[in-house]
Amino acid sequence: MGLSELIEPERVEPSPSRRRPSGLDGKRLLITGVITHNSIAFAVAERAQLEGAEVILSGFGRTRRMTERAAKRLPLTPDVLELDATNEDDLKSLSGRIAKRWDRLDGVLHAIAYAPADALGGEFLTTPADSAAQAFITSAFSMKSLAASLAPLMAPGSAIVGLDFDATIAWPVYDWMGVAKAAFESVNRYLCRDLGPLGIRSNLVSAGPIETAAASGIPGFGKLGDEWQRRAPLGWQQTDPGPVADAVCFLLSDASRAVSGEILHVDGGFHAVALSSATNL
Ligand SMILES: NC(=O)c1ccc[n+]([C@@H]2O[C@H](COP(=O)([O-])OP(=O)(O)OC[C@H]3O[C@@H](n4cnc5c(N)ncnc54)[C@H](O)[C@@H]3O)[C@@H](O)[C@H]2O)c1
Repeated sequence: MGLSELIEPERVEPSPSRRRPSGLDGKRLLITGVITHNSIAFAVAERAQLEGAEVILSGFGRTRRMTERAAKRLPLTPDVLELDATNEDDLKSLSGRIAKRWDRLDGVLHAIAYAPADALGGEFLTTPADSAAQAFITSAFSMKSLAASLAPLMAPGSAIVGLDFDATIAWPVYDWMGVAKAAFESVNRYLCRDLGPLGIRSNLVSAGPIETAAASGIPGFGKLGDEWQRRAPLGWQQTDPGPVADAVCFLLSDASRAVSGEILHVDGGFHAVALSSATNL
């Protein structure tokens, strides 16, 4: 072997798993949960399209027209499918309706939450069982429903991502939605278990507070955002869903191909600290 070969070794092509995956180019994604252009899901759809993904949105009932209006504000106006995530008929027909447009689905965003008014806002001890159950079915069980209905269209390498609010502790006013989010975190782990053998990933992004329609329905949520801004080591902008959307796009992309059952906190570091660093002790 000559000296030049030692100095300039022959280049080896990286193996497929070592090649850097390229964003969401060519991915086909179902994005639920867009109701206004302030929805976190809207920011995800926008970024995904800018990264080269094809997107379908879902909306339901009387608010579907709002979803259609928001869809027109995206770089490319996507189709909007009817999907009430608690409706058996909608869920049963969903994969067929997507299959009419696409031969496969590469990713799904679950951005769905609802709790009746008496399950939120400090009514924890008096909330009726029906209201707590409704919060659970719409906000947690629906991730299983969506996954089960779409898995037959999803090939190995595809991904499901959900939007979470840290459920490891009790919050003011969040009440039974907090309990539903705890279930949601558990559903994510079971989906990781059951869909992993099919090569499908399941992950959550645990977001800090963002000003959206759902958030404005929770009394006192604005004050929580102010506290967040003070305490998060990186600071926090509750008007900017961009960092959350970027993390979702990462989890939908091949860059996260070995990540499943994870909860990625996108909250300015809030979850990791007990007090504001400005606290005088
Ligand atoms: N905004 C925040 O501060 C924040 C923080 C962490 C997590 N999240 C989560 O993000 C997700 C999206 O919420 P958002 O804050 O963007 O608010 P949003 O109001 O824009 O979105 C909530 C969506 O849930 C949908 N939805 C409710 N019931 C449904 C049903 N039965 N079937 C189908 N869709 C249904 C609504 O149509 C709406 O599009 C929720 O899971 C929420 O808990 C929000």
